[in-house]
Amino acid sequence: MLVINTCRNTARLVQRSTWIRNSFPIIGPSISSRTFSLGLALRKQDVVNVTFVRANGTKIETSGKVGDSLLDVVVNNNVDLDGFGACEGTLTCSTCHLIFKTNDFEKLPDKPGDEEMDMLDLAYELTDTSRLGCQITLSKDMDGLEVHVPSTINDARAA
Ligand code: FES
Repeated sequence: MLVINTCRNTARLVQRSTWIRNSFPIIGPSISSRTFSLGLALRKQDVVNVTFVRANGTKIETSGKVGDSLLDVVVNNNVDLDGFGACEGTLTCSTCHLIFKTNDFEKLPDKPGDEEMDMLDLAYELTDTSRLGCQITLSKDMDGLEVHVPSTINDARAA
């Protein structure tokens, strides 16, 4: 705790002091990046903004980080989507069904595998641009992604 406070205070001091930044140009960035590496803040280039659009048109703006799945984004942002992600990403429920805009769908790097296709077949309101959120991994070029949440979900485990 004491170490973290010391780093924060040192970083603040360096940021505020023009004389220190001008005299020791290497110190400022070095201390700043050390602060980030402690996990106190996400680097801006790792943040991916994602908007979930409910069937009634309500938009829920969230953010995740590169490498997160869309299921991670829902969980980490406490997005209230009833029943979403019931199997926690083990490809057994289809409750994480999301609908992409055609442009975004075509840019997704991975095509759905057989297991995902089998689960999608059980999803309600299936479209040509449907995917399972637990199988979509965020990359920086997805920043600004908008996905639609179907009005009903089907937990395939209940069948
Ligand atoms: S969370 Fe169950 S299939 Fe994605």
